[in-house]
Amino acid sequence: MLYRSAAIVAGAAAVAVAKPCSSVFPTSTSAPAPGPTVKVDVGFRPHYIVDQMAPGPLKEEMEACANMDFQPSDFVIGHRGGGTLQIPEHSLESNLAGQRMGSGVLECDVAFTSDLELVCRHSQCDLHYTTNILLIPDLAAKCTVPFTPAADGQPATATCCTSDITLAEFKTLCAKMEGFNASATTPEDFQHGTPAWRTDLYAAGCPKVLTHKEHIKLVDGMGLKFTPELKLPEVEMPFQGNYTQEMYAQQLIDEYREAGISPDRVWPQSFNYPDVLYWIDNEPEFGLQAVWLDETADDPANFPNSIAFLDTVKADGVQYLAPPLPYLVQSDNGTIVPSPYADRANELGLNIVAWTLERSPPLAQVREEGNYYYFTIQDAVHNDGDIFTLLDVLYRQIHIKQIFSDWSGTVTYYINCVGGV
Ligand SMILES: *[C@@H]1O[C@H](CO)[C@@H](O)[C@H](O)[C@H]1NC(C)=O
Ligand SMILES: *[C@@H]1O[C@H](CO)[C@@H](O)[C@H](O)[C@H]1NC(C)=O
Ligand SMILES: *[C@@H]1O[C@H](CO)[C@@H](O)[C@H](O)[C@H]1NC(C)=O
Repeated sequence: MLYRSAAIVAGAAAVAVAKPCSSVFPTSTSAPAPGPTVKVDVGFRPHYIVDQMAPGPLKEEMEACANMDFQPSDFVIGHRGGGTLQIPEHSLESNLAGQRMGSGVLECDVAFTSDLELVCRHSQCDLHYTTNILLIPDLAAKCTVPFTPAADGQPATATCCTSDITLAEFKTLCAKMEGFNASATTPEDFQHGTPAWRTDLYAAGCPKVLTHKEHIKLVDGMGLKFTPELKLPEVEMPFQGNYTQEMYAQQLIDEYREAGISPDRVWPQSFNYPDVLYWIDNEPEFGLQAVWLDETADDPANFPNSIAFLDTVKADGVQYLAPPLPYLVQSDNGTIVPSPYADRANELGLNIVAWTLERSPPLAQVREEGNYYYFTIQDAVHNDGDIFTLLDVLYRQIHIKQIFSDWSGTVTYYINCVGGV
């Protein structure tokens, strides 16, 4: 286990280095397909959230569902696999957890390797803090910015991109919990950084990284659906002189077609608006469910412009709009209510997909310190019981169609309970 302090598990670390990819899962290039028959198990966390809720009708409604027979639901999108709160993101294991906890749709964020193969990574240049690449000297040497130790008050740095390595090299990596130690003086120290409210408990061994093709095979075998996100390139395009943005957007769709996946099982997403228009124009069947990820109002001063732009989105034929949680809600004297942005999206008949639940510290801490996903409702949350308060406003008042969650079981519990499956 590579991410603990050497003092605690020196012996285990030595074993892990000797057998870097030992795992209970096969290491062949074709991911196993567990099949569609998994019984949904939401685990303990949703019950904890219900216990935390303030007394009232919603709590009573949620309590009454404690012993339900939970079903999977397309309402529940497994963000970066769906077990990301506690299991390394985009790993096989995170996807298995997402399936087990009832996600109907699993996410692969897509980036390309130096040999132009598509792999699942949250960003093109996150390998240094989501995998063990810096512990593999041959690959660490290929990083865009090699590891530089912290010194003279400057933080440790590294930048390792999927486009720095080949597909075959990518497949030798192990996924880890997202995070790094900015004070690190060695690559080993740099691996640490998991916040206390997450865990390294399920990062032991070698959590398995996935290619996009493996993800498709895996999720198809589960009988579930797909939401791939075309990540913004962090290299100059056209890459290598002739690999264009359009070729990249096309390749993503081609991999579903080659696998025989029906377009109605796929929600391709992008923050880059031209990608969404490309799919609508060039792949109309897949374009029907193309999702535009909006992050244009992170500066609240931009809300009026972002709301006005929704008319353009509608006119362009985009049918799915995916804003972050705080764009959709606001605090009315401590009560969570729909925002003008949500009202306008609904007036236009756009399908709203929200992101991302279960990605924040405990909400008692959020209330004190603030957090991106709660920046419009900081004073309206008190503890983790408000995860269901928020979700109820999103579902019953804003009528969102789907929501990304770092912990699928939480949303599966809610949507089964309210009869929305
Ligand atoms: C971060 O790195 C510094 C310097 O190597 C080390 O002293 C510290 O213990 C590390 N922190 C963690 C959480 O591993
Ligand atoms: C880009 O150009 C090189 C050199 O001409 C060629 O080998 C390669 O196949 C081209 N790649 C693409 C994606 O067209
Ligand atoms: C805001 O909420 C507080 C506490 O619930 C209440 O006392 C107060 O009257 C409310 N103010 C307004 C303007 O609704």
